[in-house]
Amino acid sequence: MISPIVRRGISHHNKLLLSSTILKAGSTTATTTTTTTTLNFSSEKLHTIRSPVYNPTRGFRMVSNSANASLTRDKLFDLKGRVALVSGGGSGIGLMATQALVANGAKVYITGRTKEKLERVAQRYSEGEGSIIPLQCDMSDKEQIAQLVAEISSREPCLCILINNAGISGATFQTEASSAGEMKANLFDSSEATFDDWTDTYRTNVAQIYFATAAFLPLLQKSSERHAGWSGTVVNISSISGLVKAPQHHFAYNASKAAAIHLTRMLASEVAGNGLQVRVNSIAPGVFPSEMTTAGSGGDQKSAIAREKYAQKVPAARPGKDEDMAQAVLFFVANQYLNGQTLAVDGGYTLAAGE
Ligand SMILES: NC(=O)c1ccc[n+]([C@@H]2O[C@H](COP(=O)([O-])OP(=O)(O)OC[C@H]3O[C@@H](n4cnc5c(N)ncnc54)[C@H](OP(=O)(O)O)[C@@H]3O)[C@@H](O)[C@H]2O)c1
Repeated sequence: MISPIVRRGISHHNKLLLSSTILKAGSTTATTTTTTTTLNFSSEKLHTIRSPVYNPTRGFRMVSNSANASLTRDKLFDLKGRVALVSGGGSGIGLMATQALVANGAKVYITGRTKEKLERVAQRYSEGEGSIIPLQCDMSDKEQIAQLVAEISSREPCLCILINNAGISGATFQTEASSAGEMKANLFDSSEATFDDWTDTYRTNVAQIYFATAAFLPLLQKSSERHAGWSGTVVNISSISGLVKAPQHHFAYNASKAAAIHLTRMLASEVAGNGLQVRVNSIAPGVFPSEMTTAGSGGDQKSAIAREKYAQKVPAARPGKDEDMAQAVLFFVANQYLNGQTLAVDGGYTLAAGE
């Protein structure tokens, strides 16, 4: 039976609570002096919708709607009980990722080569339900990675989230030249143009991702086995530098980031091919404030880039913010249907620069 609900002179009421007993079936019509709203409810859904609230300016708003309960932000991005590791978590993007994970309930181990940075971060940003644990480790050293795995294995039954973020920029060169001779002088004759620069950059930005991911696979797989509906996850922080055609004055760095993007895809493919439930994805950031992109960081381990500096360079007209990175990290970590992907989070940098 259809139960029309008509209320006139409703402007005297801010909210009108309609009980579920009135919403029996079919359609419900509410009329005010200025608007008429028709709501269609299938009989199947009636039992879940308990308290529609009428607001004269905003119409009906459902409260306590259990049909949508699994889709709230608290449910979609809930990381309570999850254990994470962020390499290079002592500054820049690694710190942003660490904060995002901690703020949503995760216990986060952070690594880096500089103990003081890590301790400052743990002291300052361990708040809310999560916590931050600093562990000094050079992630470009296989022995140290093995020790790190042993250390975390001794403390945790599994690792749920691995963020391979540690990275270095390598040397920069003038690439603009007006002759072949000048270009050769810039790129070859320069004393900074060395094979060591290339191998150091690759060691940290590429090989480190490969070795850290491989070493933590058993702990990541255990996370999938322990938590129903969840898969252990790896997020590699690559870069738009691996997507754009311009070398941005550092060929080695940009080539290493392109390699990191392809490595992400290969690892995701091989891990899935072996029947493991571990997702591997990559975030390719545009420009974010960090020790790499600025002169350093302050006592809070945060860095700053003047907004004007990017006013003309990217469609967003600004560098990236903590919130931009935090949202991307949570999306990659929480979305169980995402695997083998790289997403540029860049304010449109790649649109402007061309891939
Ligand atoms: N900021 C950007 O605009 C941007 C854009 C695209 C991509 N990225 C990428 O984002 C990642 C983070 O960089 P960032 O910009 O946030 O710079 P950052 O502030 O310099 O952060 C890099 C962190 O990695 C750590 N690290 C470097 N080498 C390491 C190693 N061998 N072992 C362990 N930790 C190491 C550093 O700490 P220690 O020196 O104390 O070890 C530092 O805390 C990098 O992969 C970078 O390429 C950054």
